[in-house]
Amino acid sequence: MAASRLPYPLTLTGDGIILREWRSEDLDDLVRMLDEPEIARWSPMPSPFDVEAGIDYLKRCYQSRVGGRRIQLAITTDGARPLGEVTLFGVDLGLREAELGYLVDAQERRRGLASGALSLLSAYARSSLHLNRLLLRIDARNAGSAAVAQRCGYRLTGEPPILQEGPYGSSRLDTWELVEGQAGTRRDRLKNVAARRYGRRT
Ligand SMILES: CC(C)(COP(=O)(O)OP(=O)(O)OC[C@H]1O[C@@H](n2cnc3c(N)ncnc32)[C@H](O)[C@@H]1OP(=O)(O)O)[C@@H](O)C(=O)NCCC(=O)NCCS
Repeated sequence: MAASRLPYPLTLTGDGIILREWRSEDLDDLVRMLDEPEIARWSPMPSPFDVEAGIDYLKRCYQSRVGGRRIQLAITTDGARPLGEVTLFGVDLGLREAELGYLVDAQERRRGLASGALSLLSAYARSSLHLNRLLLRIDARNAGSAAVAQRCGYRLTGEPPILQEGPYGSSRLDTWELVEGQAGTRRDRLKNVAARRYGRRT
């Protein structure tokens, strides 16, 4: 049965990634990371993202963590400097479903951090929280995010897009769902990459 309050504090480790709680000392790194055009374009972050926004962000993060409403963790490789963020939110215990989201520092992209972090949190949500419907909502034009979803074993559900208005105009969010048995480890993902190269799927 799924937990009624999400665990806090939490550290998840695997595949060279350590997901840890945000700390007040992360403020400067957080502001530098979130004040970035791609993050402003594809996520609901305020833009520009200044120190005041950062303080407010860390405060709300702490409140929702101690309240057990969401999981919101910094992506690191060593438990120290934050390189991104992965979240689990919108938990519906009745339907045993939740949504996940992620972002990575512009200087740290294309090295497997988003897919590693998403796989780790998805596997934890499945095995420890017993959430069996894990969802992503991604604008069809966000090729990077769609590639992360694909690599981690999420597939398009075919549900009608969710229409949203934002500062960059309208967006159409597709729904992706983690396919049963696909909360893959790095080894699984590498296997799939190898299989694609040789023209078959594992
Ligand atoms: C999307 C984002 C999280 C990707 O992070 P990342 O750490 O670079 O992703 P990974 O290194 O794990 O890449 C996983 C796969 O996506 C591919 N990919 C990553 N960025 C890509 C891009 N911009 N265009 C095409 N493919 C991309 C990688 O090549 C890799 O493909 P592979 O499985 O074939 O090797 C990052 O670009 C980001 O923070 N963007 C802004 C915020 C955002 O869009 N968040 C998601 C909102 S839904």
